[in-house]
Parts: sequence; structure tokens; C-alpha cells
Amino acid sequence: MRTYLVTGGAGFIGSNYIHYMFGKYGDRIRIINVDALTYAGNLENLKDVENRENYTFVKADICDKGAISEIFAQNEIDRVVHFAAESHVDRSIRDPEVFVRTNVLGTAVMLNCAKAAWELPDGSFQEGKKFLHVSTDEVYGSLPEDDNAFFYETTPYDPHSPYSASKASSDLLVKSYMDTYHFPANITNCSNNYGPYQFPEKLIPLIINNALQGKKLPVYGDGRNVRDWLFVEDHVRAIDMVQEKGRLFETYNIGGHNEKQNIEIIRIILEALQEMLPANDPRRAYVKEDLITYVEDRKGHDRRYAIAPDKIRAEVGWEPETMFQEGIRKTIRWFFENEDWMKNVTSGGYQKYYDEMYGGRKQIGENR
Ligand code: NAD
Ligand code: TYD
Repeated sequence: MRTYLVTGGAGFIGSNYIHYMFGKYGDRIRIINVDALTYAGNLENLKDVENRENYTFVKADICDKGAISEIFAQNEIDRVVHFAAESHVDRSIRDPEVFVRTNVLGTAVMLNCAKAAWELPDGSFQEGKKFLHVSTDEVYGSLPEDDNAFFYETTPYDPHSPYSASKASSDLLVKSYMDTYHFPANITNCSNNYGPYQFPEKLIPLIINNALQGKKLPVYGDGRNVRDWLFVEDHVRAIDMVQEKGRLFETYNIGGHNEKQNIEIIRIILEALQEMLPANDPRRAYVKEDLITYVEDRKGHDRRYAIAPDKIRAEVGWEPETMFQEGIRKTIRWFFENEDWMKNVTSGGYQKYYDEMYGGRKQIGENR
């Protein structure tokens, strides 16, 4: 039975990946999930798998070399899928150091422990071992607004935020292991994800949550920054397909050609909420564009991201399956059906963060 070591499996994409993998492979695989359970890690995301015999959770920090090498020593790990990271740009602007620690040092520890466990005396690696590093399109920087330019795997790295700089650094470390040791790895660079279990500090769940509570919907700057949104299930399927069908040592960009301005996203969410809330639901009265509030822009705000997924389509046969109109409705339905999840994650620590982040942000004018 193949054993996967998944890092950051209690977070948004990692938990979706674990659900997907058990849905697809059932008892034919074993998953060990290593997560430090930061503010973004939530074991509630994995309630339905926690009693499986082929699933193990280990609470550990990926920077803890002793803990990670112990996992490799105790288990025959075949695949590493490395999600664990600090992932939010706004937090990275306020506190860059933890991003460098987790994203750069943590990745170095993961690489080093996997290398030590998998390397043969002649410097080659045991057959079939693979490491997949999950990264972001933000490493490529920002594209011009009215351009048909896209991010390709060959686009030079040009990160701007501390988050994207730390992810770019981690990508380069993985590349250095491939180039120096012929370490068996892949890197995937994906566009913005949305879907179930996403922490409501990111645009889409934040807007859904705020709108349902009648809170203001904060739009940074002019609201015309463009992101390329992909339903999380399409991302996790792509990760599995790259490990199964991709060429080792290659980078694959993942995205579904779904570029939208932030303000468009907010309008689509409001429209979908209006359509999906029951006729007698009192929230219908305030889930409206009046909630839209323009606030001070994010520092160094990248203007446009857009992925060219040509390589993964041609080499791996991956295509996105969930179009945005359907994906956003699935996501909203999930949030309707999981109100307790949202209540739990928005109480305590998250609430404090929210007050700090938006309490001091100057409002630019409402309902523009
Ligand atoms: P997330 O913030 O929801 O989850 C991160 C997880 O990592 C959490 O469970 C957290 O507890 C864990 N973690 C953090 N620091 C850790 C540490 N030191 N040791 C062990 N675990 C630790 O993030 P996400 O949105 O699920 O992103 C997962 C990965 O995908 C990240 O590497 C991110 O850069 C990448 N990515 C995200 C997106 C996106 O749109 N969210 C897009 C492309 C790539
Ligand atoms: P986010 O979800 O933080 O992802 P990223 O910064 O990694 O792309 O933000 C998506 C876009 O939405 C980005 O252009 C910033 C913008 N944004 C807002 O306008 N308001 C908000 O409250 C948030 C969280 C983001």
C-alpha cells in the first residue's frame, strides 16, 4: 500500500486533497497528515476521515527536524505532498518573519528529511519516491491589466509580497534539490482557489460570511485587481494527476482561465446569495450591493494574475471540470450547510485578527 505524507492537511486545500484522495483510492492508500494546527489548521475539516485505519494525524511543525525525521524513520513514505505554509498575503505584509520560517525553512526541512530517507548509498533515489511541492502563481509577480499576457512555466519569477517571495524561495529550494541531487520532485504553481473549508480571511469566504451577517464588504483599492479563480477540487485532482502522470523534475502551472475582477466576484456572490436564500429568509433584506465598501488598498497590491495551463493540459491531460457559476454555488451551499464550522472558525483568534486588520483600515467611500 502506498503511503502519502501530507503536510498542512488540516488547512483549506490540504483537507480537500485528503477527502479527494480517500474518495478516489479508498483503502488502497495510507495518509499521514502532519500539521502544526496554526490559526488556519482545523481538524474539524477532517472529522469524517479521522477514524479511518489508513489515516494518521501527527501534530508537528515542519520546521522541527527531529519530529519530521522521526515520521520518515517510523514509516515507509512513498509520496510527500507539501501544502503546509503561511498562506495569506495581508498577514505576510504585517508579519513577514513567520512566512520565511514556515515557507522557506519548513520546506528545507521537508526536503532534507525526504532526501535522507530516500537516498541510496550511490546518491540515487529509491524507485517510485516522489515529492510534490504545492506553490502559487503569485511567484511570477503581476501582469499588466489590459494585456493578453499569461504566466507560463518559463515566466521569470518576480514576487512582490513577503508571502510570494517566501513561496518563490521555497520553489527555488525544491529546484535546487532537483538540480543538485536529482531529487525526485515536481512543483505546481496554481492560481487562486475557492471552495469548502476555506478560511474566511480570503476574499470569497470573507465576502460570503460578511454578506450573510450584513457586514460591510471591504474592497481594496478600485476593486479592479484580477485573480484567476479555480475550484479547489480541480486543484487537488491536478496535484494527484501530476504525481501520477507528470514528468518528474517538471513544473506545472494549474489554472482554469477564469479571470475576474474582485468587484465582479463580489457582485456574483451577492447575486447567487439572493437567488439561493429561501424566500422568507430575513437576510434577503440586507444581502445587497449597499454593503460594498471601498477601503484603502493593500500595499504592493498585484494587479493581475492569469495562468496559462497549456502544459498540464497537453502533458497530463488535466482540464478544469467546475465552471465558476457552478463552483460558487457549490461553495455557498457548503457554507449554508456548515454554519457551525463558520461560527467556530470566526470566534476567538480569527475575530481578533479581523478587528486588527479592518478596524484600522481607512474607508475610502461607500457604494462606489
Ligand atoms: P491554509 O492557510 O488554509 O493552510 C495551511 C495549513 O498549513 C494549515 O493547516 C496550517 O496549520 C498548516 N501549517 C502552517 N504552518 C505550519 C508549520 N510550521 N508546520 C506544519 N503545518 C503548518 O493554506 P491553503 O490555502 O490550504 O494553501 C495550501 C498550500 O497551497 C500553500 O502552500 C499555499 O501557498 C498553496 N496555494 C494556495 C492557494 C490558495 O488560493 N489558497 C493557491 C495556490 C497555492
Ligand atoms: P486573497 O483572497 O487574499 O488572495 P490573494 O491576495 O492571494 O490573491 O485576495 C484576493 C483579491 O481580493 C486580492 O486582489 C485582494 C482582494 N481583497 C479585497 O479586495 N478585500 C478583502 O477583504 C480581501 C481579503 C481581499
